This record gives sequence, C-alpha cells and structure tokens, in this order.
Amino acid sequence: MALIETKDLMKVYGLGEVSVKALDGVNLKVEKGEFLVLAGRSGSGKTTLLNMLGALDMPDSGTVRIHGEEYQQLSKNKRALFRLRHIGFVFQAYNLIRVLSARENVAYVLELQGMAKAERLERADKWLEEVGLGGFGKRRPDQLSGGQQQRVAVARALAAAPDIVLADEPTANLDSTTATELLDLLVELNETHNTTFIFASHDPDVISRAKRLIQMQDGRIASDETKG
Ligand SMILES: Nc1ncnc2c1ncn2[C@@H]1O[C@H](COP(=O)(O)OP(=O)(O)O)[C@@H](O)[C@H]1O
Ligand SMILES: [Mg+2]
Repeated sequence: MALIETKDLMKVYGLGEVSVKALDGVNLKVEKGEFLVLAGRSGSGKTTLLNMLGALDMPDSGTVRIHGEEYQQLSKNKRALFRLRHIGFVFQAYNLIRVLSARENVAYVLELQGMAKAERLERADKWLEEVGLGGFGKRRPDQLSGGQQQRVAVARALAAAPDIVLADEPTANLDSTTATELLDLLVELNETHNTTFIFASHDPDVISRAKRLIQMQDGRIASDETKG
C-alpha cells in the first residue's frame, strides 16, 4: 500500500463563468521515503495539491488516502488530529509563534500530541541540535535570521515524527546560500530518517535536488520523472 494515494482529485475555485480548475483530475501515489518536488509555473495548482495532501483543504471530488485512510470521511476535529499525527508542515513564511522561544515553538506541537513537559523540551532540544541550532533554543523568532527561523520550522515539523513533511516554497524567502544549506539539511534528514518530503517549488535549487520531479500544468500532472 502506498503511503499516499490520490484518485481523480478535482478542485474548482470561483463560480460560473470565472471558475478556475485548480486541480483537474490528479492521480498520484507516493511511497514512504520519497523526496518529491511539485514544480510548475505560478497558478499551476502546486499549493492546492499540497494542501489536499495535508488535509488542510478538501477536494470537490476524488479521494486522498494516507496510510489507507480517507481523511474526507473524518469530522473536522478528527481531521485535525489526523494532521497532528501524520503530517508536518513547513511554510514559506515559517509561521512560528512570535511570543514563544525556538524550543517552545518546537515543543508546542508535542504538547498538542499530549507529551509530558520534560520529555517534549528534551525532544525539542534534540531537534534544534539536529538542525544546527543547538544553543539557540531560548531565542524568539525575531532574534533569529530567516534561515534560522526556517530551521526551527523544520525542527518543529520533524519533532512530531510525521509520516510526511509538506513544504510550500520553503526557500522563497531565503538567500541562495541559506537556501542551499537548508536543502542540504532536508536531504540529510530524508536519508537518515527516511522521512517523506513533498515540496511545492519553482526554485531551480529545490528542483535540482528532487529525487522525483512532478511538473504541474493547469491543475494536472504534466510529467512525473524519477531520477536515477
Ligand atoms: N482561494 C482561492 N480562491 C480562488 N482561486 C484560487 C484560490 N486558491 C488558488 N486559486 C486559483 O487556483 C489556481 C491554482 O493555484 P495554486 O494552487 O495556488 O497554484 P501554485 O501554487 O502552483 O501557484 C490558480 O489559478 C489560482 O488563482
Ligand atoms: Mg503556490
């Protein structure tokens, strides 16, 4: 069984004559441990697809199965729990909580998962260490560079031991050196922890790291290529 399987995903925005088919029949299987980049020009449906895979948004028709489970069948609360258990997110704008320190940001998701305080702080410190931010745990987001904030976001996503990490344009706000370092880290995490990564990006740097590259066009998969 594939880790993720979508069937005929459709998503239409707007009504009447100005409707846009953001997704137009997407069939996709993703196996554990993949390092997959969704590429394609702006408006091709990358973010919409990523949001469907992360159960952040619902398709108009079609199905998404993660571990064989169709999240569309779940209630809103159960869907939130499903996300918490299975999916980590890394966003372009980092989305850290401004009033919390780096370690509290990482520990917060673990708190939602019900982990005891001492254990979650220890886990947070371990992950900050792993992303190269040992010693930065007490800093708040505004006391960190953009690249460091994105690393906190990566630590937060991975600390919760998700099956899948979804990253929407994760390098868009980073300079090229910082972006390269972040990508080195993500490749390493993929190789050491077998974490499944799915990116949406039109950054050539991200695309060149893809082990599987899917080109989106007008809400469809235009090509799907696995690198040797
Ligand atoms: N919330 C929305 N309301 C209306 N149209 C949307 C919305 N989100 C996305 N779209 C449209 O759906 C299409 C796909 O968008 P998106 O998935 O964001 O593409 P990408 O991430 O590849 O740039 C675009 O035509 C976009 O304008
Ligand atoms: Mg997008």
